[in-house]
Formats: sequence, C-alpha cells, structure tokens
Amino acid sequence: MEKIKVGIVGNGGISGVHVQGYQAIPDRAEIYALCDINKERALALAKRLGVPEERVFDNVYDMVKLDELDAVDVCTWNNGHADCTIAALNAGKHVLCEKPMAMNAKQAIAMKEAADKNGKHLQIGFVRRFGNDMEVLKNIEADGWFGDLYYAKVNYTRRNGCPGGWFSDSSRSGGGPLIDLGVHVIDFSRYLMGNHKPVSVYGVTFDKLKNRPDVRKAGGYISTDAGSKEIYDVEDLAVGLIRFDNGSVISIDAAFSLNQAGDKGDMEFFGTKAGAKITNQVELFSSMSGYMTNTQLAYPTSFDFVHSFNSEIKHFIDCITVPGTKCIAPAEDGVVLMKILDGLYESAKTGHEVIID
Ligand SMILES: NC(=O)c1ccc[n+]([C@@H]2O[C@H](COP(=O)([O-])OP(=O)(O)OC[C@H]3O[C@@H](n4cnc5c(N)ncnc54)[C@H](O)[C@@H]3O)[C@@H](O)[C@H]2O)c1
Repeated sequence: MEKIKVGIVGNGGISGVHVQGYQAIPDRAEIYALCDINKERALALAKRLGVPEERVFDNVYDMVKLDELDAVDVCTWNNGHADCTIAALNAGKHVLCEKPMAMNAKQAIAMKEAADKNGKHLQIGFVRRFGNDMEVLKNIEADGWFGDLYYAKVNYTRRNGCPGGWFSDSSRSGGGPLIDLGVHVIDFSRYLMGNHKPVSVYGVTFDKLKNRPDVRKAGGYISTDAGSKEIYDVEDLAVGLIRFDNGSVISIDAAFSLNQAGDKGDMEFFGTKAGAKITNQVELFSSMSGYMTNTQLAYPTSFDFVHSFNSEIKHFIDCITVPGTKCIAPAEDGVVLMKILDGLYESAKTGHEVIID
C-alpha cells in the first residue's frame, strides 16, 4: 500500500501526540516535512525525528510547494487553521485539521469549499469520536437501547486550568473554554445523538476569574508558549443551550476557571428507555422487570488519550488510501460546530436566542 508523506504545521504540544499516531503506522505514513513559525521549534522536532533540514519550514506556503507531499496535518493556534488548511488544499494536499475547525463559521465554510473545489480529503480533529466510550455508546444507541435520546447535559470545566499563551488571547484562539473545551463535548453529544441540525442556541459567558495568576496551578494542559505572552481577553466560563431540529437539546458548561471541587468532564445522556453517564467509565441507567438498574460494562470504556489520537490518525490515512472509506469526522460537521459556537458567543453578547440557519 502507498505510504503517505505528511507535513505537520504547528510543532507545539499536540503535534507530539500526532507524531506518535504516524509512528504507530510506519508502513502507511511518514512524517516528511515540518513547519512552525517558530523555526527553532520545528528544527528541534526535525532533529528528533530525522527529518532533513531542507524539509523544515517557517511558513506553510513554502512547505506545500513540495510536490511529493501528500498530506498536511494542521496543529497551529486556531487562527492558523483556515489559512494553513486552504493553502494545503489548494496545493492538492489532503488535510487533517485540529479542533476547533476555525475561528468562526465563515472560515470553516471557506475551508470546506476549498476541499470540495480541489477534491481533497479534509478531516477535523474531533478526537472524542475515536474513543472507547464513543464506540460503546454508538453501538448501544444503534441497538435502540436508549430509545429516543432527547437531552444531554455536558460539562468540561476546570477549576484553574487556562493553558495560558495563545489559549487566552482571542486574536489567536477565537474564544476561551467554549471554543477550546466545549467543542469536544458538544461534538461528542451531537454525534452520539444522531448529528441533528441545530436550530437555535442561547448562551451566557463570564470572565469573572480569568486565568487566576494569583492561584497556583496543580498541573494540567499548558501551551508551549505559556508565560511568554499572557493576554486574557476570553471568557472563563460559558453556559449554553442548543436546540436541534428533532426537538433534542444539549446543555453545555465549559470553564477554564471555576470555584468548584476539581476538574470535571461529565456527560449525561437521557433517552426514553435508558440513560448514560460518562465520567472515567460509562454507566448506564434503565430498568429491568420493573426495577431500576444501574449497569457498568465489563469492557474498557474510559477515554484513552493516545489510543484515540492513534485511531484518528490511522483513520485519516485510511480515508486517503482506502477507497470507499467514509470519514468519521468530516468538514461538514466542523462547519456545523462552528455555527453553534458562533451562535453561543453571539447570544452571550446580545442576551438573546440566536437562530442557526
Ligand atoms: N484534540 C485535542 O484534544 C487537542 C488538545 C490540545 C490542543 N488541540 C488543538 O491543537 C492546536 C494546537 O494546540 P497546542 O496545544 O499544540 O498549542 P501550542 O501552543 O503548544 O503549539 C502550537 C504551535 O503552532 C505554531 N504556530 C502557530 N501559528 C502557526 C502558523 N500559522 N504556521 C505555523 N506554525 C504556527 C506555534 O509556534 C506553536 O509551536 C489548537 O488548535 C488546539 O485547539 C487539540
């Protein structure tokens, strides 16, 4: 089978996890080129991976001139996603772009149009679609065990977990915990509940605590550039309601800073026949012979970070090389997610419900 030559643009924190994904399938993919606006960082990674210096770049436009490059993996700050993706697609490369797809829906639509125009594969880094918990829940849902899933309550809130650097600078991130963390759990729940079309949203944001520089952090995800430029002009808490065309609703909380017991990433799903709670494990709630039952599966259901990224990257290579592979995380879902996020931010500004077209 053809070995895909991949160029990774943005060589900070998450790119290291993508590197592991390509290294896990050495017969199918090769990290052929690297690119970062911080060229020293790209060169350091190139040295570690054995990528020759002539294939290390400080801008994506030069990297995509490499004829033999098949695919580009975009791991930049959010404000680089659209430019890098469109440049790569227009140069005839396939693209895997990290979440969130873009800064806003307008950019996301332009990215999807570039993929369609060039007939190239564009996949979005909705890594939670590739986890064990999703696999189990999708199978249970497909068997009709939940009945009609009509409500989800999803939460991704940190007590003191702003990653710093660009994550809190709206000009590079497009927003705070909603666009960074909320995107994962909104996408997870929309995907599980059948990918229905959103029709309206209501959102509220706060920036009361900001990044809490006066309170010591206890670990957690940190931007590679944390500490070097600490602008904080994004929300620290976002809450929202998303209504879909089949009548189902998702309620979301996302926070970088919140006075709560610890960090939380719970998702609860409520169906007419059964419900589920996802923490580190999947728990199921239904009834049997007139008695309420709580069920835990004798199967691993915790989200395994590395396994999920490896599956996402393998799927990217499958989509490019195996004819007929249906993309699990297509651009059209990225566009829908950006419309939801835009609507929630707009609603938070105006204080009113926003209708999504
Ligand atoms: N899927 C997940 O769970 C997950 C987790 C973390 C981050 N992410 C996403 O990955 C992306 C990167 O996050 P990170 O944590 O690695 O950030 P980071 O700050 O650690 O690294 C980003 C790198 O991109 C480089 N860069 C920025 N703009 C660029 C451009 N236009 N061209 C080339 N290089 C550029 C920076 O110099 C930096 O080295 C973000 O979009 C983030 O939302 C996803």
